[in-house]
Amino acid sequence: MQQASIHSSVTLQAPGTVANLVCGFDILGLALDQPYDTMEVRLLDQPGIIITSKDGFPLPKDPALNTAGAPLIAMLEELDEPIGFEVIISKHIKPGSGIGSSAASAAGAVVGANHLLGNRFSKEDLVRFALFGEKVASGVKHADNIAPCIYGGITLIRSIFPLDIVQIPAPKLHVTVVHPQIEVRTSDARQILRKQVLLKDAIRQWGNIAGLVAGFMKSDYDLIGRSLEDVIIEPVRSILIPGFDEVKTKCKAAGALGGGISGSGPSVFMLSKDEETAHQVEKLMQEVYTRIGLDHHTYVTTINQQGVKII
Ligand code: HSE
Repeated sequence: MQQASIHSSVTLQAPGTVANLVCGFDILGLALDQPYDTMEVRLLDQPGIIITSKDGFPLPKDPALNTAGAPLIAMLEELDEPIGFEVIISKHIKPGSGIGSSAASAAGAVVGANHLLGNRFSKEDLVRFALFGEKVASGVKHADNIAPCIYGGITLIRSIFPLDIVQIPAPKLHVTVVHPQIEVRTSDARQILRKQVLLKDAIRQWGNIAGLVAGFMKSDYDLIGRSLEDVIIEPVRSILIPGFDEVKTKCKAAGALGGGISGSGPSVFMLSKDEETAHQVEKLMQEVYTRIGLDHHTYVTTINQQGVKII
């Protein structure tokens, strides 16, 4: 077979994301300004997907098993045209960090491919394709990283089948993230969850979800802080994260509105009203993990309003 020629190409940044936002397991997420992956997507004149990695992470090269490849296979099936894509990925969001690494690859690939096709697909279509990447990564099509990565800002996924994505306006918020350098696989972190919840816990949880969304929309920082509580997932998953309780207690005492596990962990995030508090929170996080003796990486950032950005 002749080697494929490159028809056109695009370079983009795909942001990290915080899924769940503490109480909204699988239904809430936000996009971060930092960190982000850089990707180049090339339109080829022959069918097929090529994955090229420039970052040294041992991710699958087989497109069907790769979080950027699987969504593009789904897109090509729908297009039914003799074209293909090459995706060149430079990951800065570590796989297994809890900051939406798989979603960034999936979302970046489909946004880039769509750009090269003259934006034939809607954002909702792109989420639908990108979900195949999450299925490859964790076995489940959850959109709480994908949707904010593609839409930017804070998103509510009211339903997956059929897709119903709602963008939630919010006041300025500063996000501090600490990534203790251990890997938690989302599939493992889902496996350990209880399959049933008590009604009293469900009532408390949906009170918090409604409160959090109302707090964002009303710019009510106190309500946001009160609603950042998770009585269902956090008690189980936090056991996997050394120092979790201490980080949370100290950061809240220092003035953070609240926070918790970022996605399925091990990263922990905190929301703050002002930048100074966000930096104070970073210092406390660093102190805890330095004392525990666990390598860690921190980010002080804000909410990314744009999502995947073509550069
Ligand atoms: N909602 C997903 C989970 C997010 O918590 O398993 C994974 O990033």
